[in-house]
Amino acid sequence: TAAPSPDTASFLHCLAVHLPPQAVYTNASRLYPIALESSIKNLLFVTPATPKPIAIVAAGNASHVQAAVRCGVRHGISVRPRSGGHDYEGLSYRSLRAGRPFAVLDLAWLRAVSVDVGNETAWVGSGATLGELYYAIADHSARLGFPGGVGPTVGVGGHLSGGGFGLLLRKHGLAADHVIDAVIVDAKGRLLDRAAMGEDLFWAIRGGGGGSFGIVLSWKLRLVRVPPVVTVFTVHRPRSQSATALLTRWQQVAPAMPRDVILRVVLQNQDAQFESLYLGTCAGLVATMARSFPELGVKARDCIEMTWIQSVLYFAFYGTGKPMEQLLDRGTKPERYFKAKSDYVTEPMPSHVWESTWSWLLKDGAGLLILDPYGGRMGSVAPSATPFPHRRELYNLQYYGFWFENGTEAKEKHVGWIKGLHREMEPYVSKNPRGAYVNYRDLDLGVNDDDDHGLTSYGKARVWGEAYFKANFERLAAVKAKVDPQDFFRHEQSIPPLVSTL
Ligand code: FDA
Repeated sequence: TAAPSPDTASFLHCLAVHLPPQAVYTNASRLYPIALESSIKNLLFVTPATPKPIAIVAAGNASHVQAAVRCGVRHGISVRPRSGGHDYEGLSYRSLRAGRPFAVLDLAWLRAVSVDVGNETAWVGSGATLGELYYAIADHSARLGFPGGVGPTVGVGGHLSGGGFGLLLRKHGLAADHVIDAVIVDAKGRLLDRAAMGEDLFWAIRGGGGGSFGIVLSWKLRLVRVPPVVTVFTVHRPRSQSATALLTRWQQVAPAMPRDVILRVVLQNQDAQFESLYLGTCAGLVATMARSFPELGVKARDCIEMTWIQSVLYFAFYGTGKPMEQLLDRGTKPERYFKAKSDYVTEPMPSHVWESTWSWLLKDGAGLLILDPYGGRMGSVAPSATPFPHRRELYNLQYYGFWFENGTEAKEKHVGWIKGLHREMEPYVSKNPRGAYVNYRDLDLGVNDDDDHGLTSYGKARVWGEAYFKANFERLAAVKAKVDPQDFFRHEQSIPPLVSTL
């Protein structure tokens, strides 16, 4: 049966009947702007022209989520889940189509974390931030950790939905690799755990991108063991001091190092900042660097020994001595404009590319580049084991531009810089398709369109879908057809339903 045409008034009435008044904010509510902006991170999407939700449901429990989904299905209003609101394109709270009403299902209150130290597992609500998760784990045990992203305010829901990686990725792989159960509300409003949802859907939600398959309420995670002492360093190598040669070499060295160490690079201005986390003592890190990458010249005086949770704070806030409670700060309003793009590199780039990158970094509107090396555990997971296919790549390259001035001139300058550099890198990065990371959402890759039946067109979605998921895209679309054939959970880059291949 076809989906009903949108009926806003009936949808709002349905919410009013089935949910407590304090859980629903319509745009007539005084607190609507606060509820909307509470977890927005990108000022680009806080403008009067941005199409906004007709309602925000601040779910207090699973039945609120089920009721909102059922109201949405019945009255043709799509519901976008929002956990931490960090989507780079704001797809958890804005739409590109002004004429198509939608609601936001905000999960920020569903953020309980319960840690089982004996079994080395935790259940975490999607609305928790990574900082809250790391804090809770460290609060229970100094020997356990979790291999998720660096940004402490990132929401668990979106992060796990897209894969998620941070400084433990070479030892432990993606955050999504450690999900062992989950509870989801599907397009029929049912509450399903892993056994009830089946392995196809359970596969899809661990990396297939958020907002396509249902609303994941909570996740059971396998925690990882961390040693009592880890070591970090940050060393700067300016362009004028052989940074080009170091970068050229880094591409071969960093993905091949032992799994206990990660060495990422941030390029900004005319400086290469090499940042490392090692699961062991300073002596071990210095010896590892001396063996693998003597050219970098890392000395014991560059190292700082600490606990794993202190290293989380160190990389999140760049420095030592910060209180652990800082991980609990979710932030309340957007502070910057930003735009990002990503690439995967499969062959080391020649040194002249780095030379020209330095020139790009001198331009007006320049942002920064983040190079996250893979290898280690990443390389030993099959590309089809989860929807995230980029397991064999040397490193992820993120182009990140940010600015604080309002107006189109600033936007064009910074976005123009990112697009220009991204265009110039094309010959040197992965091809057929040129890969990208779904958690660094980028609508320049393509935006969904309807097919003749009013569903998301599979053919058009392949353009962006294969960049994020390569061969896994088809299976994702087949799972979508099975679990959400009416395409209720949809957004500008949601997985389209592909009928009849499973
Ligand atoms: P948000 O709530 O905006 O959701 C993102 C998408 O998932 C939307 O489509 C949304 O509808 C959907 N979704 C959200 N909750 C869902 C749920 N419960 N069930 C189903 N779908 C859901 N990444 C990384 O790998 N490593 C890193 O270190 C970082 N660091 C980082 C720092 C900062 C400052 C930002 C802004 C972003 C990152 N990221 C990152 C990227 C981050 O992983 C990505 O943006 C996540 O999708 C954000 O998840 P949120 O829940 O915050 O976003």
